[in-house]
Amino acid sequence: MDISFRLNGEAIELAGVSPTETLLDWLRERRRLTGTKEGCNEGDCGACTVMVSDAQGAKALNACILFLPQLHGKAVRTVEGISGPDGTLHPVQRAMIEHHGSQCGFCTPGFIVSMAVAHLNGESDFDTALAGNLCRCTGYAPIIRAAEAAAKEPVPEWLREDLAAVASAPALPETSDELAALLERAPETVLVAGATDVGLWVTKQLRELAPVAFLHRCRDLQEVEETEAGLRVGAGVTLDRLMREMRGRHPYFAGLIRRYGSVQVRGAATIGGNIANGSPIGDGPPALIALGAVLHLRKGDVRRELPLEDFFLDYGKQDRAKGEFVEAVTIPAQADRLRCYKLSKRFDQDISAVCGCFNITVEDGVVSGARIAFGGMAGVPKRAAHVEAAIVGQPWTLETVEAAAEAWETDFTPLSDMRASARYRLESARNLLGRYFHEDQGQATSVLEVSA
Ligand SMILES: Cc1cc2nc3c(=O)[nH]c(=O)nc-3n(C[C@H](O)[C@H](O)[C@H](O)COP(=O)(O)OP(=O)(O)OC[C@H]3O[C@@H](n4cnc5c(N)ncnc54)[C@H](O)[C@@H]3O)c2cc1C
Ligand code: FES
Ligand code: FES
Repeated sequence: MDISFRLNGEAIELAGVSPTETLLDWLRERRRLTGTKEGCNEGDCGACTVMVSDAQGAKALNACILFLPQLHGKAVRTVEGISGPDGTLHPVQRAMIEHHGSQCGFCTPGFIVSMAVAHLNGESDFDTALAGNLCRCTGYAPIIRAAEAAAKEPVPEWLREDLAAVASAPALPETSDELAALLERAPETVLVAGATDVGLWVTKQLRELAPVAFLHRCRDLQEVEETEAGLRVGAGVTLDRLMREMRGRHPYFAGLIRRYGSVQVRGAATIGGNIANGSPIGDGPPALIALGAVLHLRKGDVRRELPLEDFFLDYGKQDRAKGEFVEAVTIPAQADRLRCYKLSKRFDQDISAVCGCFNITVEDGVVSGARIAFGGMAGVPKRAAHVEAAIVGQPWTLETVEAAAEAWETDFTPLSDMRASARYRLESARNLLGRYFHEDQGQATSVLEVSA
């Protein structure tokens, strides 16, 4: 595979690239750019953070789970390229020195790159910007102080140049039509969208993947459009973009996405990948099912659609034929009654133990409709059909909520695992309906609120 991109301002042309060689390995082993560190090699620690720019802007991404073809036509800056060509320090580097923000050489390069991206994008919420960068010696306070101090300085010219300089030669599918044709010819092809799952198959499971097709250049899969049926979100839309789209429509969904991985993960991961992987603990599907989302699938020229909940057949099994791919998901237009609750051990960068999403409509004091969906409670993302039936048509009261208590066990038989016990999961699911009720009555709950 032939690809071209810019690295620290220099044009790079690579021929015969292995499609699953990671940027991190290439940087360290072939270019000897060893400022970018390998910590976890699975997207969790941020030691390998690089800046990746294209016509849409600059992002912080984890190089350990970025495959080289994902960079085609983009510009990359490693920590070595954050300072100027003549060695002038970037304002975040100067501020890190002045505020004693650097204590070890292992995590500091990743912090510098994330801070430089936040600086370039004019972001001021540094807790969020740096949540994907782990400092193992708990030195966050001086790092945050350095980020705040640097924010007052202008963006250096050498970083602005990247945004204009991107290559154009197509080597990958550029449209969903091309992708559909490719999959007709080779239905066994492994699709790679953001690679936040697939990357780990390579770095952790050491799997050899072939053939692969990259989706990130299919522009039409990245469209978001208002249709009569609702908001149609292309499969290639990243989680950070979806979060922005949801802020005005379903703020709790936006808040849930804010809890999804880190800036680096949300910048790469797509909603299509989050659905297609069929994970029972993915955060997107419960919210989308509660909103009544419709999934659009395509195989060759044949398109079909189905309610999202019907896509998840069993653990590891989805209603998707060989060569078929997720094209989009439509979220019906509706008044916002959605609330999403993610329970995990850490606030940031953690997988859900339980993720409950509630969308309950009430007319004249009576429950007129209910869509309740959970992740972490079964082998698939699943609706609480018996709980819904127990409350629909009943007065919207605490008695109704309590009367539905037994239905939870009919709906779910959760597992005990390292994230939570079966008993914890069932009890918290039950209690979350109570929480939804109290919040709906305007009663404050003493739980940290999230703004996305
Ligand atoms: C550090 C870290 C933190 C994470 N935190 C969270 C979290 O908080 N919540 C959460 O839900 N997930 C989390 N994840 C999991 C992961 O980010 C998601 O599952 C993600 O949405 C996958 O999307 P992707 O675009 O990266 O998919 P990829 O890794 O590219 O693909 C995933 C799967 O979907 C298939 N696929 C991709 N696109 C399509 C398509 N259009 N049609 C058909 N098949 C397709 C691929 O072939 C593959 O089987 C985390 C992952 C990491 C590494
Ligand atoms: S090495 Fe930890 S996120 Fe890449
Ligand atoms: S400065 Fe590297 S672990 Fe804290």
